[in-house]
Amino acid sequence: MNVKENVIASLHQALASELTPAEIGPLLEVPKSSKLGDYAFPTFVLAKTWHRAPQQIAAELVERIDASGYEQVVATGAYVNFFLDKGAFAQQTVQTILAQGAAYGDSTQGQQANIPIDMSSPNIAKPMSMGHLRSTVIGNSLAKIYAKLGFHPIKINYLGDWGTQFGKLIVAYHKWGSEAEIKADPIGNLLKYYVHFHEEAEKDPKLDDEGRAWFKKLEDGDPEATHLWEWFRGLSLAEFKKIYDRLGITFDSYNGEAYYNDKMAPVVADLEQQGLLQESQGAQIVDLTAEGLNPALIKRSDGATLYITRDLAAAIDRYQKFHFSLSLYVVGAEQTEHFKQLKAVLTKMGYDWAAQIVHVPFGLITKDGKKLSTRKGNVVLLDQVLDEAVSLAQAQIAAKNPQLVNAATVAHQVGVGAVIFHDLKNDRLDSFDFNLQDVVRFEGETGPYVQYTNARAQSILRKADFSEDLTSATVPLTDPQAWDVVKYLADFPNVIQRAAAAFEPSVIAKYALRLAKAFNKYYANSKILVADEQLAARLGLVTAVSQVLQSALALLGVAAPEEM
Ligand code: ARG
Repeated sequence: MNVKENVIASLHQALASELTPAEIGPLLEVPKSSKLGDYAFPTFVLAKTWHRAPQQIAAELVERIDASGYEQVVATGAYVNFFLDKGAFAQQTVQTILAQGAAYGDSTQGQQANIPIDMSSPNIAKPMSMGHLRSTVIGNSLAKIYAKLGFHPIKINYLGDWGTQFGKLIVAYHKWGSEAEIKADPIGNLLKYYVHFHEEAEKDPKLDDEGRAWFKKLEDGDPEATHLWEWFRGLSLAEFKKIYDRLGITFDSYNGEAYYNDKMAPVVADLEQQGLLQESQGAQIVDLTAEGLNPALIKRSDGATLYITRDLAAAIDRYQKFHFSLSLYVVGAEQTEHFKQLKAVLTKMGYDWAAQIVHVPFGLITKDGKKLSTRKGNVVLLDQVLDEAVSLAQAQIAAKNPQLVNAATVAHQVGVGAVIFHDLKNDRLDSFDFNLQDVVRFEGETGPYVQYTNARAQSILRKADFSEDLTSATVPLTDPQAWDVVKYLADFPNVIQRAAAAFEPSVIAKYALRLAKAFNKYYANSKILVADEQLAARLGLVTAVSQVLQSALALLGVAAPEEM
């Protein structure tokens, strides 16, 4: 049980169950100044039932509360203020962390329920965009957060590997492409052909018909079309995998849109049978006027299926396979309408599990205030970004710690970690500008700052060379800086819960920054390695900080080098 739960339990008891713990929890405040205590309960909610002024209620509640577990419990105006017994609390917190190690904050609440996470999902024959990077790192972090809470996440890379664009690409390749060019730079040249196709198609609309015809062939399993498609797909995927390797991110499945080619017919038939399909200008749609949405376009007039048709088949397939408790889609906010339509159509089909589908949207990354776009050439190439981040990290390490033995590995961990952390520290939905210099700084709100703080803690522990048992020492609280650190440490399990509930890795990233900052303040104000009776206690605190920083970074998918 953590402190907040203790406070809730004390109030619950004193209120003779007038409010449930679930009602008390959100009412509790953390006072701005610690002079007013660690938690405050506002009594205004009770004024109606108690028929008394809040001040009187506060005074009376204090009488009823069992204060034995606290330093003191006092009434201040309309509030009941709780002061924790800091010594006991600090000791208990640090001991728990030392005993549990990396398992601190774990929970079994998920009971291994499946949570498929649709993430990354770049489009074949196009460069992976910053948006896909966001989806990759957010999805990966959510998978780690949910796994820590005892769920079973399944990371699915739903590749964009199907649709009329592949017909167009085949036409373009036949007309202007060469095998040698594609081998030299697969994605670059496939993109070039695709852009060229669009330029030509504007002059000659017949090209579009040719493209559609080739896609039809592909859908029908024509050997030549299939062969080219497999070739394009394989080459693109190999390029994507290089980036995933550098990020240290793996997937449980690469079943993309093409996988559903033969699984759509039964879905369309079901829609038809249930009378949900309507004809509109030759196309087949599901009307969603009642839901306040645009109609979902299921089949085009030429019979071709669409993005949403494949997503319907995929959603149903995932439910049949996993009986998921939640099904997440980490996809940019610009697709919000699409996922509303998807859920609406599934609901109309009678699938009540559609309510368990959650679109986890995120904002755009801009460069110099402008939207990034593959078409307009305003692209940030991920490989390049990672290269530059790593070399910036290398330069800083060379300046700060020229003796470092495994400098290349650490530079990789710091550079890549910086890019991931930068992406995750912002609220998902915020758009942000990408400036590499800001990303890799060792100071300020960056990944390297958190990594550096952990490395500093590790270095203190190495220097201490202390072999006695740290677990029973009382943590010194003579300085308020230590108390701040303890409070953050104790909050970690709640922080994980909050991040999971909001599908928001930034909750973890922001927490790691605050803990690192509090620890650095403590470090600046106290002599840790002094051989007095509290040495073991201070080292216990340092060990706990390092453990929690490592766990927080791990939940973000960021490495924690021991030295840097
Ligand atoms: N490939 C799509 C794109 O780049 C994203 C796919 C998202 N996932 C999904 N199930 N629709 O826009």
